[in-house]
Amino acid sequence: MNGYGALAEVYEWLISEAKLAPAEFAASFDDVLRLLPSGARVLDCSCGTGQLAVGLAGRGMQVVAADASEAMVRRTAELAEEFGAPVRTVRADWQELPEHLEEETFDMVFCVGNSLHHAEGARERVAALESMSRLLRRGGRLVLTSRTWELVRARGSRLDISDRLVRRNGRDAVVVYRWEIAPDWEDEHHIEIAITQVDPDGSVLVRSELLSSWPYRHDELDDELRRVGLQPETSTFDPEAENYTVVAVKG
Ligand SMILES: C[S@@+](CC[C@H](N)C(=O)[O-])C[C@H]1O[C@@H](n2cnc3c(N)ncnc32)[C@H](O)[C@@H]1O
Repeated sequence: MNGYGALAEVYEWLISEAKLAPAEFAASFDDVLRLLPSGARVLDCSCGTGQLAVGLAGRGMQVVAADASEAMVRRTAELAEEFGAPVRTVRADWQELPEHLEEETFDMVFCVGNSLHHAEGARERVAALESMSRLLRRGGRLVLTSRTWELVRARGSRLDISDRLVRRNGRDAVVVYRWEIAPDWEDEHHIEIAITQVDPDGSVLVRSELLSSWPYRHDELDDELRRVGLQPETSTFDPEAENYTVVAVKG
């Protein structure tokens, strides 16, 4: 399982301004959220620092927020407390979720913000998707966002250094991504992320983490969703765009 222990502390510097505000993050899913009944039961199964979960709770939904990282779950619980949002938090790997939560009870499961590539290859990815499918009621939907890995792989191994300082909580940081692209799709890839905070007094604080990644093609994901009983309903996939969203319905 990927760490995210060090990154959890400084995760704000990695996400866009739009995702920082819980209500705005939830609003980015308005298209699918309008399909939900009031008081819907929703799960964010890779909740990160919790902005989406808290935003969904702010709309009156019954929210469970889960993540494999203890540090991320802690941050989600803190954010929920800060907003007075009733969010149940669970520390669980995708495959462990059915041990913690009742099957076929969720109206919607979110796996967003480029999380699924952390599943260790096709077999683990299908197992993760199967877990998500088991938790959904019939007619419930999985909402998944993904990087366009076809593009990421085509660019090859490289270093991305942010061309401007990212300011969060009054502190500036330089963000560096080191992409280590393996020869084959099936191989373990690596993404090293470093956040260097530079304070006005000249002090520098670096936090970094080496994450493992197993990218997948959009076509593969489509096929894997069908294998676990989820029918892809919409997809924004565009081979030229950086990210896409897939919505799949439990049959
Ligand atoms: C890129 S972050 C996205 C977080 C959040 N969804 C967002 O949009 O900001 C990926 C998240 O997936 C979680 N994760 C990685 N592997 C996981 C697994 N096997 N089961 C559950 N969560 C996992 C990480 O701990 C991390 O919080």
